[in-house]
Amino acid sequence: MQQLTVSAPGKLMLMGEHAVVYGYPCLVTAVDSRFKLTLTEIDAPNLLLHAPDLGIIDYHKPINQIGKGDIPPKAQCIELSFKNFVQKYGINTGIKVETQSQFSQSYGFGSSSASIVCTMKALSQISQKKLTNQELFDLCYRTVIDKQGVGSGFDVAAAIWGGTLYFVTGGKAIEPLNINNLPLVIGYTGVKSDTTQIVKEIAKKKELYPAKIELIFKAISGLVEQGKRALLEKDWPLLGKLMNFNQNYLEDLGVSTEKLNSMVSSAKAAGALGAKLSGAGGGDCMIALHNGKNKQAIEKAIIQAGGEIVDIKAHAQGARIENL
Ligand code: PMV
Repeated sequence: MQQLTVSAPGKLMLMGEHAVVYGYPCLVTAVDSRFKLTLTEIDAPNLLLHAPDLGIIDYHKPINQIGKGDIPPKAQCIELSFKNFVQKYGINTGIKVETQSQFSQSYGFGSSSASIVCTMKALSQISQKKLTNQELFDLCYRTVIDKQGVGSGFDVAAAIWGGTLYFVTGGKAIEPLNINNLPLVIGYTGVKSDTTQIVKEIAKKKELYPAKIELIFKAISGLVEQGKRALLEKDWPLLGKLMNFNQNYLEDLGVSTEKLNSMVSSAKAAGALGAKLSGAGGGDCMIALHNGKNKQAIEKAIIQAGGEIVDIKAHAQGARIENL
């Protein structure tokens, strides 16, 4: 009986959120808070799922029923990944899945997409299907859409490739950027945000004010293109300025909050080269770019504004097999 453990990193959006849902590019970095999952072959033709960290204990389903009937929301990522893998490649064994995530679900680092990537990578390994990153991405992205109906897939790409990526909607472009560090401070608002809900609200706004919203997306997309060059040239002051402009557009879209604004402006007042919310908005995290010397002052300012510092590294390694 084979057993293997796979891990995948979380993500933070650097620039381009929301616009990336509509065909524009974004910049995303993987963060070293990893989702871990162990897959074991079993004799019975069942999927067994034991994921106390996801709130699922001893869930099981016959393989021929996978993806059918009621699926508890917390089992959906793994069961739907399983369904999509089995539909494409078949499987000739029962599987037990156990998770051990280091993720705090509240930060918004993308535990759903990391769990989908881990499941798919582990299944492909155990079935000896050699999938390219792009093939893995396509299966995982389909699973994200099956589960939540919306999303650009940037989080799936970050979990698979790791590092820092230039990414276009649905994986139309996925370019790893050759940098070796990213001097970020990450501040958590203490408020959990509902990404799917906020993405739907922006869709409504786009229907009501198509020209205005399209103008904002186009402007954000221009910032992302410049941001990509700034990253590659390690021009942190320029990247900081672009992040600030991006934050202004996110405020125009109406997705920032008073708490996010206050953490962002405190970080800037303490010397951050740039600061912005990261992700859908409404809560979760903000990021600030530091110059190597003023990290502590920025952290202190964010705490004074009521934020919590999340001390994890950006530009983390992508999905990997932990043992064989
Ligand atoms: O809230 P997060 O960190 O999952 O980021 C969402 C980013 C969006 O662009 C708003 C949605 C997406 O799928 O790209």
